[in-house]
Amino acid sequence: MMTADAAPIPLVDCTPSEGARAVAAEIAALVRARRAAGRGVVLGLATGRTPLGIYAELARLHREEGLDFANVTTFNLDEYLGLRADHPQSYRRYMRERVWRPLGMSLEQGWIPAGEIAPSQVDAHCREYERAIAEAGGIDLQLLGIGRNGHIGFNEPGSPRDSRTRRVELDALTREDAARDFGSLEAVPRHAITVGVATILSARRIRVLAFGESKREVLERTLSRPVGPEVPATFLRGHPDVRLFTDLASAHGKAAR
Ligand code: GLP
Repeated sequence: MMTADAAPIPLVDCTPSEGARAVAAEIAALVRARRAAGRGVVLGLATGRTPLGIYAELARLHREEGLDFANVTTFNLDEYLGLRADHPQSYRRYMRERVWRPLGMSLEQGWIPAGEIAPSQVDAHCREYERAIAEAGGIDLQLLGIGRNGHIGFNEPGSPRDSRTRRVELDALTREDAARDFGSLEAVPRHAITVGVATILSARRIRVLAFGESKREVLERTLSRPVGPEVPATFLRGHPDVRLFTDLASAHGKAAR
């Protein structure tokens, strides 16, 4: 029998727009099937540039085809600590502008860690976030990007497999990559709240996206390094329903189509 650690991640060889359409179509099918059964859907959502095409396609399906998100609850992976909710780089603002509003969702349907929380409240807030995910029935489908240092959410190198929602210190490379959007390195927060590796692995389906040359090296490491905290994305190997959409698949000769 294959050990969990040895299981490869199935790759889907696609362009960014093909990947966005495929994942959006999968989400739409899930939302419609659950609606027909009178049930809700819980989505785990990511920020960053990578999922923008998915959100644009979902917004189009909402506008042009009447896809209704009334039965959907979303939980975000992470948020910077110390940013006001309306800060241009806060993930809450990203979600309001790119996801909740364009999909016709009310703010009560969307959960994201609170970036403005007082330090003394952070631990209780993180426990409450985990409890809210569990009470919603767990995550049906988790969207995921990969940071260039192998992070998933803000689970930076060193994050253990059993980690849960918590405060983390951001890695130097993560802050460097964010500096472009913040205008300077000094403006990038030093800490964040992220769901844990275990929280992510508890999702029933995980759809990862990684496109472009800047992700080649981390993709290589995700697929070939020993599974462990050094490259947190390696923990995805062995998940029973994970797929990685990428335009770098041919380099690995493992394309799923
Ligand atoms: C950010 C986010 C991650 C995201 C990653 C990649 O730091 N916290 O959730 O997946 O980095 O971002 P991008 O999609 O812009 O490459």
